[in-house]
Amino acid sequence: MFINRKFPNTRLRRLRSSSNILDLVSEKRLSSDDLIQPVFIKEDIDGTEEIESMPGILRYGKSSILREVESIVRSGVKTIALFPVVNSSKKDSKGSEATNKNNLMCESVRLIKENFPEVIIIADVALDPYTDHGHDGIIKNNYVDNDLTLDILRSQSLVLAEAGADIIAPSDMMDGRIGAIREALEDSDYKNTILLSYAAKYNSKFYGPFRDAVNSASNLGTSSKSSYQMSPYNSDEALHEVAMDINEGADIVMVKPGMPYLDIVSLIKSTFKIPTFAYQVSGEYSMLKLAIAKGWLDNEVMLESLISFKRAGADAILTYSAKEISMEINKK
Ligand code: PBG
Repeated sequence: MFINRKFPNTRLRRLRSSSNILDLVSEKRLSSDDLIQPVFIKEDIDGTEEIESMPGILRYGKSSILREVESIVRSGVKTIALFPVVNSSKKDSKGSEATNKNNLMCESVRLIKENFPEVIIIADVALDPYTDHGHDGIIKNNYVDNDLTLDILRSQSLVLAEAGADIIAPSDMMDGRIGAIREALEDSDYKNTILLSYAAKYNSKFYGPFRDAVNSASNLGTSSKSSYQMSPYNSDEALHEVAMDINEGADIVMVKPGMPYLDIVSLIKSTFKIPTFAYQVSGEYSMLKLAIAKGWLDNEVMLESLISFKRAGADAILTYSAKEISMEINKK
């Protein structure tokens, strides 16, 4: 029998012989510190509302939001990302409500900060929850106008910073927005407000359930965001986007969606070595949840999917399963 002289020396299975050994040599870890819980807030509802296309995820009204934040904190998750579900009567073509100091987002940020000052709040900046056409910017001559939109994004960012948001996260994909918002923040003395840029945000069908959740799907109709969100065919372009955002003053960059774009996470992290987040978006979450509910996949696929983000180099992950996974990790 042929014996490879090297073979008995090298048995990779030695380091897989028990769970303690596996833990000892583990290259990556996933902890509660890496997880960010997106939360939907809605005005004029008492209690909560289910979102049909996102199993287990709810919209919270003012009377129920604090209890939910408390339960997130108890799970070990310290950061939340808020998304507003705005009354259709408040939507217009310019998304004016976005810049109202007392809008749902600002009031919710204040309410949460008063009760949980240590919780880190990420506030999304984009106009789509506020526009009657469902686009992230102002439309002029049938085109989402970049520079007109920047003015509104600056004001939107300022009201959110003033309300107490720790992190402002522009998700609109207008060119030059990071620079425009950074300048507005510096000029108004919000020098420590963190900018998390959705730098590489792709034009993806995986956002479908989110658009149901915030009721923007019907506003958008069959219109596409392809004139501002990135084409799924491109990866070099993601580096260009990130380089631009770093130059303009982004502190953290994000890739979105997550699992189908982990190559982009890895590319950005290895190229720029800056804090890099990834967003496991609504469609990814719902796909897994539905298969789990059917019994076609084991519950553990959710954890496994998040480990893949860590392997790719993500420093933190926005995921609708943050609270649930955090509780699981901390039970072990
Ligand atoms: C809005 C925004 C979207 C998401 C986060 N912020 C949707 C979109 O761009 O249409 C998607 C998140 C998800 O699918 O979970 N600018």
